Amino acid sequence: MKTTNEEMKRLSELEVELPREIRGQNQVLPRLLSVLRRGQLKLRKPGRPRGSFLQLGPTGTGKTESTLLFTRRLFGPDALIRLDMSEYQTQQSLGVLIGSQPGECGYLGMERRRVAEGTLLLDEIEKAHPRVLDICLQLLDAGRVTLASGETLDFSPFYVAMTSNIGSAEIIGLQHSGAATLERHITSRAQQSLRPELFARIDEVLVFHPLDYATQLEIAEKFLRAELDFLRGQGHELTAEKSILSFLVRKGFHPKLGARPMRNAVEKLVGDAVAQCLLQGNAGSGELRVADSGESLVVAPVQD
Ligand SMILES: Nc1ncnc2c1ncn2[C@@H]1O[C@H](COP(=O)(O)OP(=O)(O)O)[C@@H](O)[C@H]1O
Ligand SMILES: [Mg+2]
Repeated sequence: MKTTNEEMKRLSELEVELPREIRGQNQVLPRLLSVLRRGQLKLRKPGRPRGSFLQLGPTGTGKTESTLLFTRRLFGPDALIRLDMSEYQTQQSLGVLIGSQPGECGYLGMERRRVAEGTLLLDEIEKAHPRVLDICLQLLDAGRVTLASGETLDFSPFYVAMTSNIGSAEIIGLQHSGAATLERHITSRAQQSLRPELFARIDEVLVFHPLDYATQLEIAEKFLRAELDFLRGQGHELTAEKSILSFLVRKGFHPKLGARPMRNAVEKLVGDAVAQCLLQGNAGSGELRVADSGESLVVAPVQD
C-alpha cells in the first residue's frame, strides 16, 4: 500500500508540532519521529507492529502526552487503545484482557474492533503479570494476539508504546549528575526489571529527562498562551506581566508529579482572576499580575 499525500502531510506537520508541544525532550523526539517515519512510509517488515518504543523517565515529563499527540495527529481522535498495566497484575486479569473462555474476546478484542489503526499504549509495563507480559511479547514479535475465543487479532497497523518510570524515583537525588548519568541509571534499572526478550524487540528506548526550570517556564507559557487565546474568544483581552510565569511554575510544577498539575493550575488561577474581575463589575480585560498576597492572580485595568 502506498503512503498517500495526506499521510505525508500529517507526518511533516507532526515533525513541527511535536517539539513545539513537548518541551525540553529534544534528546528523544528525533528518535521517536524516526520510528514514526519508517512506520508511516511502510518500511516495516510485515507481521510486526508499525513501530515500538519504551518510554522511560520520571512522572509528568511528556511520555504519555507525546504518544497521545502523535496518535491524534496521524490517525485522528479515537485511535488510541490504552492499557493501564497496574490493572493487569494478577493471573486472573489475563482473562479480562483476552477473555477466559471460548466466545469471550476480552477488553483487547473489544478495543481492537473499535480501532482500525493507531497506537496501543501499555502504561506502567513493569506492573504487568508475567502472563500478560507474554501477550506483549507476542505483540512485538508477531504483531498479533490470540484471544481465548481462538480469534487472532492483527496489530500490524499499530504502534506499540510502552511506558515505565522504573528507576526514576531515585534520580531526584541524581539531579545534578548530568544527562548521560541519568540515562544510564534509568536504562540499567529498566533492563534489570524488564525481561531481556522485551528489550530486544523494542525499536527505540527513549529516556525522558526531568524538566529543568527553563523548560518548566516554557510549559507554563504554553498553557498561559492557550488560556489567553481561549479567553480572547470569550471577549476578554488579557496581557500578562512577565513575572507571572515563575508564579505559575511555583503553583503548577511538582517535584514528584512533574508538569502534570500545570494545565489545571493555569486554567484555575487565570479563570479565578477573570471571574473576580467580572464580579467586581469590570470587563474582565486588562493585565494579569500576581496579587499582593503572592498566592493568586488579579486583572489590573490597562492605564491609557
Ligand atoms: N515535556 C513536556 N512538555 C510540555 N508539557 C508537558 C511536558 N511534560 C509534561 N507536560 C504536561 O504534563 C502533563 C502530564 O504529562 P504526561 O506526558 O502525561 O506525563 P508522563 O511522563 O507521566 O506520562 C501533560 O498533559 C502536559 O500537560
Ligand atoms: Mg504517563
